[in-house]
Amino acid sequence: MKEVLIKYIEKDRIENILTDIEKNLFSKASDACNKAYAPYSNFNVGATILLENDIFVSGSNQENASFPCGICAERTALFSAKSNYPKLKILKIAITTKSKDFKNIEPVAPCGLCRQVLLEYEIKQKSTIEIYLFNTKKFLKISSAKDLLPFYFSEERLMRK
Ligand code: THU
Repeated sequence: MKEVLIKYIEKDRIENILTDIEKNLFSKASDACNKAYAPYSNFNVGATILLENDIFVSGSNQENASFPCGICAERTALFSAKSNYPKLKILKIAITTKSKDFKNIEPVAPCGLCRQVLLEYEIKQKSTIEIYLFNTKKFLKISSAKDLLPFYFSEERLMRK
């Protein structure tokens, strides 16, 4: 039997234990959340990425009356970051949610599509991306995108004979 072990940190969100970068990431992702366009789900998501050179890029979920056209906050932020700064590595991403309609007990983790996108950038840049999932009460810190998607589909699979 094989085993996949995922380690992560879970902590109460107490301001004085956070690093300046974490405070910045969390406040920017919360701001991004407020800018979501989510009139159909009423489930706002915000994501902020820290790139090399101390550059922050944020995104929020953007929905559409034609539901499948919508996109998650994480991919909005990732595609924006990689469109504007294609050469800079992604160091961290913080993700949060806000909604009056839903219980917000646990920090929300990215969907499968976003994990796939995150992981390909991680593999391409040859260095891990730290992922923070947070709400008002606590945060989880995962040290690599690979931890969120152990059996992933990779570019290698598309190598022709
Ligand atoms: N959503 C995100 O933006 N990120 C996630 O990780 C999960 C879901 C969005 C998509 C949709 O606009 C709304 O949340 C409800 O699914």
